[in-house]
Amino acid sequence: MDHFSIILGLCRSALQTSNPAVVGHVQRLVRALEKDNVPQQVSALKKLMASEEALAEITPSRVVLSRRSLSGEILTPSVTSPVDKETGAPLAEIVHARKGDALQPLFIPALATGINTLLEEWSHVDELRAAGVRPALATMLFGAPGTGKTMLAHYIAAQLELPLIVARLDGLISSFLGTTARNISNLFSFANRYKCVLLLDEFDAVAKLRDDPHELGEIKRVVNTLLQCIDSRSELGFTIAITNHESLLDPAVWRRFDVRIEVPKPNALTRVEILRRQFDASMLDETYLRFLAWITDGYSGSDVEKLADFLKRQKAIQKANFDFFTGVRSYVQMSAYEGGSHNRSLVAADQEILARTLVSDESIPFSQEQLATLFGCTQPTISRWLKNKTISGVK
Ligand SMILES: Nc1ncnc2c1ncn2[C@@H]1O[C@H](COP(=O)(O)OP(=O)(O)OP(=O)(O)O)[C@@H](O)[C@H]1O
Ligand SMILES: [Mg+2]
Repeated sequence: MDHFSIILGLCRSALQTSNPAVVGHVQRLVRALEKDNVPQQVSALKKLMASEEALAEITPSRVVLSRRSLSGEILTPSVTSPVDKETGAPLAEIVHARKGDALQPLFIPALATGINTLLEEWSHVDELRAAGVRPALATMLFGAPGTGKTMLAHYIAAQLELPLIVARLDGLISSFLGTTARNISNLFSFANRYKCVLLLDEFDAVAKLRDDPHELGEIKRVVNTLLQCIDSRSELGFTIAITNHESLLDPAVWRRFDVRIEVPKPNALTRVEILRRQFDASMLDETYLRFLAWITDGYSGSDVEKLADFLKRQKAIQKANFDFFTGVRSYVQMSAYEGGSHNRSLVAADQEILARTLVSDESIPFSQEQLATLFGCTQPTISRWLKNKTISGVK
């Protein structure tokens, strides 16, 4: 049949309406093609029907909201990413996650509230439009490395029950320099065709390019294409851009993102929460979690997890012989770290000094009882250590 790819596209769009009459017509088409003996076309149509059915079955409530709120086709798992025409390399990764699949990043309450507000807005795009309000569909996430920005983008897409198209701009640019502008516009056309969230990770790659004097013409073209693509997508679908180097981005870029969210390093209480997710309660008592949160002052969420992984590995190897303080000291020894405060270096200090430092630090309060648990001694001993404060002169 001529123009079968167009017919297939029409069937895909029609099947997404879940109208039983459409299913009947597509089945008739399959039977007719079987008679015509065109097995490839029959198999393509059957595959399409199966994937639409499977999608409807696994996620009955899926995209109920998004079907209404965004235009575009449904991006089923059978649809693949566009590729670079010369190398065949995919331009993006497509992630299909359901609501419960993506872990929620842990943030300070103010930021968590901000994220919920964004999710609420993005879930009610249709109502905003009906009220004549232009929804803000482009968000820039920025902040230090390892603070959970990429994790947050995955979480947002999963909460909206939309597929996430993940494009890393650094990869897109460096591997295809010369065809980058075309690849960027192909990527956006693909994203604009479907209901999805488009993630532009490592967004500063574009800005960094400008420092390269050899590629000026190409860079101008790439930057212009990217800005035009962001503009034309602004009414069509959700876009999240991520950068660690916000200072490299110029105002022309910032202006295109209505929502800008700074993702900071976790504070003490958030570090406790991140650690709590890492250790089950039988493995590590709350007091130890608080101590780990204290020594990781200045760490990103990702670095806090690295410490937790190290301790879990040590505990698995050493079993009953595992000693918490020895484990923490080894980690501090083995992980040269620029970003941390001096708290981490104090793990090597005398326990008495450490106990006094902990009670005088208000970021994470420790009771005498907790200090006794931490150092494996009695409360009167702790009390004596704390009274020694004036004698030893240590604050
Ligand atoms: N706020 C957080 N809450 C929970 N886990 C976190 C948090 N921040 C980081 N992590 C952990 O660290 C991992 C890495 O985080 P992620 O890749 O999202 O950081 P990022 O900000 O995108 O870093 P980069 O800028 O280097 O790309 C996450 O998968 C998660 O396990
Ligand atoms: Mg990231």
